[in-house]
Amino acid sequence: MTENNNKKILLSGIKPTGRPHIGNYFGAMKQFVDLQNEYDTRIFVANYHAFTATQTSEELKESTIDVAIDYLAIGLDPQKVNIFLQTDVPEVTELMWIFDCITTMPYLQRAHAYKDAVAKGEEVNVGTFNYPMLMSADILLQNADIVPVGADQKQHIEFTRDTAEKFNRLFGETFKVPKPIIMEEVKTIPGTDGRKMSKSYDNTIPLFAEDEEIKKAVMSIVTDSKAPEEPKDPEEDNIFALHKLFSTEELAKIEKQYKEGGMGYKESKEILIKNIISFIAPLREKRKAIAGGREAVMKILENGGNIARSTAKAKMMEVRDKVGLSI
Ligand code: TRP
Repeated sequence: MTENNNKKILLSGIKPTGRPHIGNYFGAMKQFVDLQNEYDTRIFVANYHAFTATQTSEELKESTIDVAIDYLAIGLDPQKVNIFLQTDVPEVTELMWIFDCITTMPYLQRAHAYKDAVAKGEEVNVGTFNYPMLMSADILLQNADIVPVGADQKQHIEFTRDTAEKFNRLFGETFKVPKPIIMEEVKTIPGTDGRKMSKSYDNTIPLFAEDEEIKKAVMSIVTDSKAPEEPKDPEEDNIFALHKLFSTEELAKIEKQYKEGGMGYKESKEILIKNIISFIAPLREKRKAIAGGREAVMKILENGGNIARSTAKAKMMEVRDKVGLSI
């Protein structure tokens, strides 16, 4: 991938958090794929950020590579998108320090994530407290114009904008002030128990699931107890909510059968299983093929890391110069 100066720069970081599910896919992951032609897209695996939560070094390594493989499997094209590891741009930690020194404790104490952790009685580590400054460094070193994030990250982008403006005010125009794009979490994607699909509720359908897992998950979807011949309100049914994502021309027919009666939940689930499998199977096979060629993945990340680092280095030289750290 090469630098493209005409397009706006889109940057986002993804924390490795384990196996993605279809809620993650439709709510967030897919949007990077949809936007990759329109923007100079840079996506990185936020492995420094992931380190704020303890995991074993093996787990961290594996989950870091897994994220890269997941995104390649869903169609991020390394010819168009710069995919890299955050740790290949160690300049972010240096810039974080400089930001730390122009940022006050009371200001960072306003962070929701920090306040929530304190409210839960956690002894917050300094990395977690500082998290928004590392994130600001990620974004500002890549000269990002837009940053697509989930609603939970909105405040972090506000911190980033404030920090860019503060630095520019103190040391002269240096950073572009980025804009967030808030990815509407697809709240309407229910998990198998009808609550929002989430790993913490154990109600997910994994994005790269095997057929048997898909069957088992769909069969466990909670419904009311209406008999097959009874009319049903499709908007009240958890199976139908998933049909909306996975069926195309069939949807109107299913809806009609729900309303008129005649579609039982078992039949509805069987149709859903068939459609989810035909959606997931190719993705899953692609993921396996990519995971089997780990060398190629490492090469993509290395190449991406080099590009991201050279952008960051140039910016960092300017920063050192502005603040008086280059002699
Ligand atoms: N904090 C983000 C999250 O938890 C991940 C992240 C780290 C990020 N650095 C970033 C996102 C820079 C966007 C831009 O989802």
